[in-house]
Amino acid sequence: MGISSGKTILSGIQPSNGLHLGNLLGAVKNWTALQDEHHCYYMMVDLHAITVNQSPEELRDACYRGVAAYLAAGLDPGKSALFLQSHVGAHSQLAWLMICSAYMGELSRMTQFKDKSARQAQNIPAGLFVYPALMAADILIYQADLVPVGSDQKQHIELTRNLAERLNQRYSHPLFRVPEPFIAETGCRVMDLQEPLNKMSKSAVSEKGTIFLGDSDRQIIKKFKSAVTDSGSELGDYESASPGVRNLIDLLAALTQRSHQDVMNEFSGRQYGFLKLAAAEAAVAVIAPIRTRIDELMEDRAYLDQVLQQGAMKASAVAEKTLRNVMDTFGFVPPAQAGI
Ligand code: TYM
Repeated sequence: MGISSGKTILSGIQPSNGLHLGNLLGAVKNWTALQDEHHCYYMMVDLHAITVNQSPEELRDACYRGVAAYLAAGLDPGKSALFLQSHVGAHSQLAWLMICSAYMGELSRMTQFKDKSARQAQNIPAGLFVYPALMAADILIYQADLVPVGSDQKQHIELTRNLAERLNQRYSHPLFRVPEPFIAETGCRVMDLQEPLNKMSKSAVSEKGTIFLGDSDRQIIKKFKSAVTDSGSELGDYESASPGVRNLIDLLAALTQRSHQDVMNEFSGRQYGFLKLAAAEAAVAVIAPIRTRIDELMEDRAYLDQVLQQGAMKASAVAEKTLRNVMDTFGFVPPAQAGI
């Protein structure tokens, strides 16, 4: 991947509603490629999930299902720390220091906050507003070098960098490593199959445009067959293709690890139906074994708990160390000094 080995890598996904194809191609696929040569921390960000209302049973189930998806997609608990954000208490503690260090102005410029709050006319939870400060804490607490994400998270990582630099300067002390986003060329922005101007998302109004890792083969094929294209019927060139058609080309390229050009060479001049079917078959080939493995793993809670325990222990050791150093630097009296 052109990155020298031994880097610290951190990333996370919200558990609500299960993982989708965008999460897989924009994030998890790249995580697995990094785990052989780097120190990797991958979590389900359950604290972030409660910025919108959650049913307790669904939240618990989604966390297990999410970790099962990480394992099914190829993450190895022997190589990567796989854990729940809420199991490492230091995230919430550092988040408060980050909230106090972030500015209202910079938080109100976050496009994700603007989008999400626009959908909710009243009673917007304050957590939705300070959410990026928790995300900054997630990243900085591991002194991460790289954060592999889809392109929608770039602005949050930019804010994280600004906070790290601000605090390093304020205390004239390198408290935090300043992280870089790691965004792959293909699959970094998978679009909704029905509304191809919007990114594929768990919270889309209709589920018809989102491919979930739990979808059956039939559901996947049906969703691809009804994907929105345009009024034409056959594929011309990539640049002038409509967003829906371009999304299908991008998806097929990302799913089969081919270049756009290669996909274009095969489908140019052919009807959209062929492209839809090829993308559907490629998605089934990738998702079906993952879905089967998730179902198997969900039957073995004891194993999932063991993975989570091992991951949280590994993560906590690093997180606690950063937290203590930061708290000391801010001027908090160490509990040990008071004999606590
Ligand atoms: P979330 O849960 O929305 O998405 C998780 C990851 O999946 C990527 N992604 C996509 N990639 C391509 N196409 C799409 N349509 C698509 N939708 C989602 C996201 O870019 C992300 O990489 N704030 C984060 C979670 C988070 C986090 C962190 C990430 C909390 N703390 C620390 C990295 C580091 C979020 O809501 O992601």
